[in-house]
Amino acid sequence: MIAERDSVLHSWSVQADWDAPTVVGGRGARLRLADGREILDMSSLAECSNLGHQHPRLIEAIRSQAERLCFVTNAWGATPRAELAQALLERSGFEGGRVFFTLGGADANEHAVRIARQAARKPGGAIIARERSYHGATQLAMALSGDSRAHSLGIDPRALGVHHVPPPYGYRCPFGGRDEVQCGDRAAAAVADRIDDLGVDKVAAVIMEPDAGTNGIVAPDNYWPALRKHTADRGVWLIADEVMSAFGRCGEWFAWQRHGEAGRPDLMTLAKGLTGAALPLGAVVLSAEVAATLEHEMLYSGLTYCGHPLACAAGVAALRAYEEEGLIARSRALGAQLLVQLQQLQSRHRVIGDVRGGHGLFAVIELVADRDSRAPLAPWPQTPPALKSLVDTAMAQGVSFATRGNLIVLAPPLVVSEAELADAVSLLDRLLAQFFAK
Ligand SMILES: Cc1ncc(COP(=O)(O)O)c(C=O)c1O
Repeated sequence: MIAERDSVLHSWSVQADWDAPTVVGGRGARLRLADGREILDMSSLAECSNLGHQHPRLIEAIRSQAERLCFVTNAWGATPRAELAQALLERSGFEGGRVFFTLGGADANEHAVRIARQAARKPGGAIIARERSYHGATQLAMALSGDSRAHSLGIDPRALGVHHVPPPYGYRCPFGGRDEVQCGDRAAAAVADRIDDLGVDKVAAVIMEPDAGTNGIVAPDNYWPALRKHTADRGVWLIADEVMSAFGRCGEWFAWQRHGEAGRPDLMTLAKGLTGAALPLGAVVLSAEVAATLEHEMLYSGLTYCGHPLACAAGVAALRAYEEEGLIARSRALGAQLLVQLQQLQSRHRVIGDVRGGHGLFAVIELVADRDSRAPLAPWPQTPPALKSLVDTAMAQGVSFATRGNLIVLAPPLVVSEAELADAVSLLDRLLAQFFAK
């Protein structure tokens, strides 16, 4: 076995402590490890393998595109790129818009900000983002992120024109109170107030996750349409970071679609499920209005591999798979079912303070020390030792769960079977009893 432990610098890890498993294969929601074990993947790895592992359509699309043409620069044309752009514009109803392809989510957000500033004619314009958000690990994306890891890196958001507002965190409302709808309204109003304080002419865009995100906040339903209204009233572009929430994860092609036209952003960023993670690809989708402002101007940007034909061919195949296999509707139905099952767990385990999500196969369990006071089990973003033990035990028993702080995030591939989901929930039930019995 090659000793990866001693040669690779692993992301988000203390190198000396790295002991993650090596994956050698997979099928559907299952991964095969180098030691021969099979693992049920309840996080789609990084919430990105929406189509499951080794989806045959993706493999075939990559193989046949590789035989035709592996690479052409983004400045020239490539058939799968055009096809994918067209399909994205159609599915999002952004007819007349344009798509800028990137390599992943962070650079999609970087480019969305650059494009929004150019399109708004505000070159150094302020960007409003929120606390408890994640937009990627590059310098600007990390500055956009309201994430403790940005503080650890010493990144100064203000120096990059980024202003943070409190999040629509219904369970722990930063504005106080326990009324989630009120919290959604106040969080949206806080964005409006910040735009007004900074001056409409100084603000280029607002960037927010419309639903699922790494930091585990699922906004109250009234938040996104209110945010859309406040930004539209002020003529400020709204960027929906759909890197995690799109492609069925939240029960729609794009999470904002749950709100219909009242939720339509001006730009949206995509990655992860765009290719079912079979190849790296991200995108910025521009509305017709945003695209029109750039039509006769130079776009000062480009990455050597953006719009790579192999990745775009995988994207075209992924979109067909979501559609022809009915995976978006499946995710919506299974997500609703999962939410009910987790609510049943909540009624049995006092350590579960909140259960949220379930618009698709994305749900969050928040653990607390005290359900009445909602005191967190560990200070954010620390993961309580008992939760670490729970996850390690689950892994030893063949199920991989993602955690962040006090949260367990359930986001299995959309092809997960109902039996697999039930197994994972019942394992969680047993392990919550084992590790959090009072
Ligand atoms: C909402 C959101 N935006 C952006 C990113 C960054 O994407 P990438 O890791 O592809 O750069 C992530 C990654 O988890 C994400 O969840």
